[in-house]
Amino acid sequence: MPEQYTIRGAGAEAIASDVESAVSTGVLAPGAELPPIRQLAAQLGVNPNTVAAAYRLLRQRGAVETAGRRGTRVRERPATTPRSLRGVAVPPGVRDLSTGNPNPDLLPIAHVSPRPGRPVLYGEPAVSPELAQYAHAVLADDGVPGEHIAVTAGALDGIERVLAAHLRPGDRVAVEDPGWANLLDLLAALGFSAEPMSVDDDGPVTAHVARALRRGARAVVVTTRAQNPIGAAVSAARAKELRALLIEHDDVLLIEDDHCSGIAGAPLHSLAGTTRHWAFVRSVAKAYGPDLRLALLAGDLRTVERVQGRLRLGPGWISHLLQDRVVGLWRDEAATRQVHEAETLYTRNRHLLQTALADRGVPSSARSGLNVWVPVPDETVAITRLLSAGWAAAPGTRFRIASAPGIRITVSGLEPADIEPLADAITEAVHAIGGASM
Ligand SMILES: Cc1ncc(COP(=O)(O)O)c(C=O)c1O
Repeated sequence: MPEQYTIRGAGAEAIASDVESAVSTGVLAPGAELPPIRQLAAQLGVNPNTVAAAYRLLRQRGAVETAGRRGTRVRERPATTPRSLRGVAVPPGVRDLSTGNPNPDLLPIAHVSPRPGRPVLYGEPAVSPELAQYAHAVLADDGVPGEHIAVTAGALDGIERVLAAHLRPGDRVAVEDPGWANLLDLLAALGFSAEPMSVDDDGPVTAHVARALRRGARAVVVTTRAQNPIGAAVSAARAKELRALLIEHDDVLLIEDDHCSGIAGAPLHSLAGTTRHWAFVRSVAKAYGPDLRLALLAGDLRTVERVQGRLRLGPGWISHLLQDRVVGLWRDEAATRQVHEAETLYTRNRHLLQTALADRGVPSSARSGLNVWVPVPDETVAITRLLSAGWAAAPGTRFRIASAPGIRITVSGLEPADIEPLADAITEAVHAIGGASM
């Protein structure tokens, strides 16, 4: 079958990406044959190895398949598009017996569906229309381009899918140091290497982000606010610097983790859209409840399509029961008030503890979120001292790569009366010398 579409690109990634766009828009239909490697290489004026590498990338992404003499063809249901491409076109007036769906009238789920009588079946859009509508409005207010969105099972799931959509094992990923322990563990599990960037109250330090990029980081993960563990929030000035830097590194994958929206106690200064491939991931876990395994993911078209396409081949989609429940909470006035109260209380507790520590000459950081981070000379000594005083804190070692020791104190459950005794105990723990009276 002669292929009419003219593939473009000079490098393997560019050629693969061009084919992927053509598959996504339907210009290259399922089953369409790609030109033989030598022919395309001659046409593009590149080495055949480059085209072979591009086809390999496309195969690994599940977009094409190579079957001996039949050559390389677009898969019937490419994993790089979110659509469940149907083999059967159903003209008007024809009874559709091709779907494989159960009878919606016989589904008990109809009784618990927020849309009574209309249970969601196979083949429907992955994002619930209610959630999509709400998300577009909210993201626009936050200055995040919300044209393309997906829904994932929480922030970490979203981050994993975005990394896997663009990177290969061995690639370097720039992360905050100290940073979220689960992210560091995830990178190790996926075979990526972590490239540390130090972080202060205003977010990742620009010079250290630049260094990570110079060292070959292919992705950067930034916590927008409530950074775990130090509580940083990307400030307007830092965001400006980082945007200026990232514009010069358009090929870097930028991931933003906005896990504390609603309770962060700091405004959002997003970097979304600065680079060609990016994702902004907003989890509802911290503000609305960790058991709501849901995060909203906005990104560029290619990233969102790859995430949705791959999601389709796993869980399929995040249940619309859950999606609509989350939208219900977002719209609910009492829930919104409660989230706001939590934000006020967390802010008060951070402030009280930080002030009490400062009064005792103990520095700490806690610009936003649920935690206060206290640098200590020896984590084991400090944690042990605190435990014997009746307080358990998290040792910093789980969060650190090359940064200095510290301990993380979660303040979400503290009462004002706790502050003074806790500050005394922390002060004593910070000043304790290893081995003495333990
Ligand atoms: C930095 C960061 N991101 C995200 C999350 C929440 O992720 P998830 O939505 O996967 O529960 C946490 C929770 O501790 C976190 O610390």
